[in-house]
Amino acid sequence: MRDLTMQWGMQPVLDRVNLVMQPGERLAVVGPSGAGKSTVLRLLAGLQLPSSGELRLFDKPQTYLRLDQTDPPDVRLVFQNPALLASLTVEQNVGFLLRKKRQLSRAEIREQVEACLEAVGLFDIAHLYPGELSGGMQKRVSFARAMIDNPQRGDDAMPLMLYDEPTAGLDPMACTRIEDLIVKTTTVAEGCSVVVSHVRSTIERSAERVVMLYGGHFQWSGSVEEFRRTDNPYVEQFRTGSLRGPMQPSH
Ligand SMILES: Nc1ncnc2c1ncn2[C@@H]1O[C@H](COP(=O)(O)OP(=O)(O)OP(=O)(O)O)[C@@H](O)[C@H]1O
Ligand SMILES: [Mg+2]
Repeated sequence: MRDLTMQWGMQPVLDRVNLVMQPGERLAVVGPSGAGKSTVLRLLAGLQLPSSGELRLFDKPQTYLRLDQTDPPDVRLVFQNPALLASLTVEQNVGFLLRKKRQLSRAEIREQVEACLEAVGLFDIAHLYPGELSGGMQKRVSFARAMIDNPQRGDDAMPLMLYDEPTAGLDPMACTRIEDLIVKTTTVAEGCSVVVSHVRSTIERSAERVVMLYGGHFQWSGSVEEFRRTDNPYVEQFRTGSLRGPMQPSH
């Protein structure tokens, strides 16, 4: 991102921000509610265009994502809410991309779907509809959907995995499983990941570098180790949850 600005009203949500990610890097974006974290992910995914500035992915300018795009960059987004298609089964939701893009038999798709569901700790639910699942299960199904067809690509494409609050509302064991998966999928796929999270364990276990977003700017950036120890007032307030500090509630 170079001098990237995103503005809807008077106050820009992102104000000329700059960010460079290295291949294979795992980044966490943290900050209070309304700071613009999901906006960063939507811009990276091509679901929104910046008001100004430059955004490049894999050395190409990122454009607005279109369904008829022939060679879109391999960017996967786990949405903040699961955003599953209610009229499709879990199998159809998770296998959606495979059905659209690949000449695979139903059995092959089923096999890949089951493998992704197992990886997120879900068994025997492929035939169910999202409305029949708990919130945490839906969240993990959306994770499986983002993972599908990723590690075995065999070409030189490098996926960018984007996770918006991937562990919010999950029990501690499910959190650990997802955090391990974020590391594993990034490593196996030789891609990068950006995790947005308020959960300390998720930030510290799934990322290597942390950036703190507030007031339209990246206020702080450092390694996970530095994130644990720094006395930067933004990070300290985030760590302690104190109501006193440089960050005010957005509303
Ligand atoms: N499509 C939109 N139109 C107008 N304003 C928007 C739009 N999307 C986001 N915003 C505004 O941009 C700001 C940042 O929103 P964003 O969803 O990126 O926050 P966030 O950091 O992800 O917050 P949270 O932690 O609550 O998910 C908010 O003030 C929000 O109201
Ligand atoms: Mg958000």
